[in-house]
Amino acid sequence: MGDLASKVEEIRSEAEEKLRSATTEKELLEIKGKYFGRKGALSEILRSLPTLPVEERRVVGQKANETRKFLESLFDESLERIKEEARKRKAAASFVDVTLPGGMLPPGHRHPITATMEEINRVFSRLGFTIFGGPDIETDYYNFEALNIPKEHPARDMQDTFYVENLDRDILLRTHTSPIQIRVMEKLKPPVRVIAPGTVYRCDSDVTHSPMFHQVEGFAVDRDITFADLKGVLTEFCALMFGQDRGVRFRPSYFPFTEPSAEVDIECVICGGEGCRVCSETGWLEILGCGMIDPEVFRYVGYDPEEFSGFAFGMGVERIAMLRHGIGDIRLFFENDLRFLTQF
Ligand code: PHE
Repeated sequence: MGDLASKVEEIRSEAEEKLRSATTEKELLEIKGKYFGRKGALSEILRSLPTLPVEERRVVGQKANETRKFLESLFDESLERIKEEARKRKAAASFVDVTLPGGMLPPGHRHPITATMEEINRVFSRLGFTIFGGPDIETDYYNFEALNIPKEHPARDMQDTFYVENLDRDILLRTHTSPIQIRVMEKLKPPVRVIAPGTVYRCDSDVTHSPMFHQVEGFAVDRDITFADLKGVLTEFCALMFGQDRGVRFRPSYFPFTEPSAEVDIECVICGGEGCRVCSETGWLEILGCGMIDPEVFRYVGYDPEEFSGFAFGMGVERIAMLRHGIGDIRLFFENDLRFLTQF
């Protein structure tokens, strides 16, 4: 009789020791299988109980059941311990020392074109203009037609552009920000005072021309707007942008969507008007085109040219940035060479 009871004791102490020292879940399952699983040593003993004398059956049966309960709960405990150890190992492996000194990222700053564009916007905002935008990909209608530049008109030669393939040459990259005039006037009734910065595209590339560049458009429409208003606003703009003492002149010019049209020059920022290579010995630098909005354009947007008049202007942002900073090559803006960009 003592035999089976001591066998149970043996199973208990062996299994207990192994469960306590196991380090993986797999090991635990093996131990369970061998000692107290369905086909383990304890089950075997329990199965043999019916063959034992009553007294022994009671003693061994009780002991074996107690032992199984004990080992099962030790199994659960050990599983928890192993999982906890694994968690700790994982946490230790991914430890980050937050007390180490951080790496410094050099502070960035705005691109000189962005900075110039924002400054132009700021000046006109102060003069009461509201900022609008429009799409880079335009239709022939907004870029040319409604600006009084019909198909086959020679004025289109001044602004050759990129057409979007397979769309019948009706979809193109805008060549100027002037289509925003049309888009805004279609939506708003006068009075309007708008400034519209944006990216524009032309088939042009040399030291002073880039196939992608930026413009700021501006226009105002109301009753009784005259060329004097145009002159006043643009003269004030030049003074704020290039200094109060810089000479400004208006020269007659031609644009299909303004009549009369003019170009605005400022005194050369390099030689101050003496004449040099940058200004081709003229002492003057052209900075923008402008004029009184052609009544033909008003008809396209449904404004009555008898009731309203307005002026418009458009300037190249790169050109203004080049003049303000004395930069000789437009391509420098787009090469993203930090030796250039960090100077601004
Ligand atoms: N859109 C013209 C250009 O790109 C500039 C301009 C704008 C002229 C508005 C007059 C009025 O050349």
